[in-house]
Amino acid sequence: MASVTEEAPIKKEPLLKTFEIYRWNPDTPTEKPSLVKYTVDLNSCGPMILDVLIKIKNEQDPTLTFRRSCREGICGSCAMNIEGGNTLACISKVDRNVSKSTKIYPLPHMYIVKDLVPDLTHFYKQYKSIEPYLKQNTPPPADRENLQTIEDRKKLDGLYECILCACCSTSCPSYWWNQEEYLGPAVLMQAYRWMIDSRDQFGYQRREALQNQMSLYRCHTIMNCSKTCPKGLQPGAAIAKIKLLMATE
Ligand code: SF4
Ligand code: SF4
Ligand code: FES
Repeated sequence: MASVTEEAPIKKEPLLKTFEIYRWNPDTPTEKPSLVKYTVDLNSCGPMILDVLIKIKNEQDPTLTFRRSCREGICGSCAMNIEGGNTLACISKVDRNVSKSTKIYPLPHMYIVKDLVPDLTHFYKQYKSIEPYLKQNTPPPADRENLQTIEDRKKLDGLYECILCACCSTSCPSYWWNQEEYLGPAVLMQAYRWMIDSRDQFGYQRREALQNQMSLYRCHTIMNCSKTCPKGLQPGAAIAKIKLLMATE
């Protein structure tokens, strides 16, 4: 009987690439933030930027700090600025051109907790402020489901998928300069999502709450937000629809 010969796995030559990563440590606040260079062999690493960060943390520098959880573009934790664009590290492919380095920063114009971790406290407070849940004066009886038609449910497509990663808000110039008062694209898109839910009975009040100079009207329709969304959503368009609703009532 012919014997089966096992072939040894072919060992690939190292493919070394430099990553420049923003570092800042709150324990040494007088030291300025800096870009630190790390070299990683792409042939012994997973294909995504998050794989590179995990490899650096495991093998070179355990102090490197970043958020991640699902590693499949669902939780929104690994949002950061990679090569100049806000996106999710776990679904961003590493550029295998090793002749140039890849630069990684935290989401822009945010207070930093450490390294690549932005402080999202204010962002979540703003999200809470729009009351992101169903509000009804006359809910259905407790033994009935809260139904909506297939057509009404469809209106929520492109809105409910938002993972609140904050890539859009932190790419918006209006949000950079006015984030204390301007709600920003991510939160406004969720405000719209509840306004147009056929089961919600507080659409008018939700719009009234935005009827001031800052909360909504700081959006100047530049559309950075829609360009950057890693989930392919259109927060800029949702904001335009809120403005239209408010202009016609
Ligand atoms: S469209 Fe509005 S929310 Fe989006 S980036 Fe421009 S100003 Fe910001
Ligand atoms: S709209 Fe897109 S970019 Fe903005 S928070 Fe939601 S998923 Fe992130
Ligand atoms: S780790 Fe969850 S979106 Fe990237």
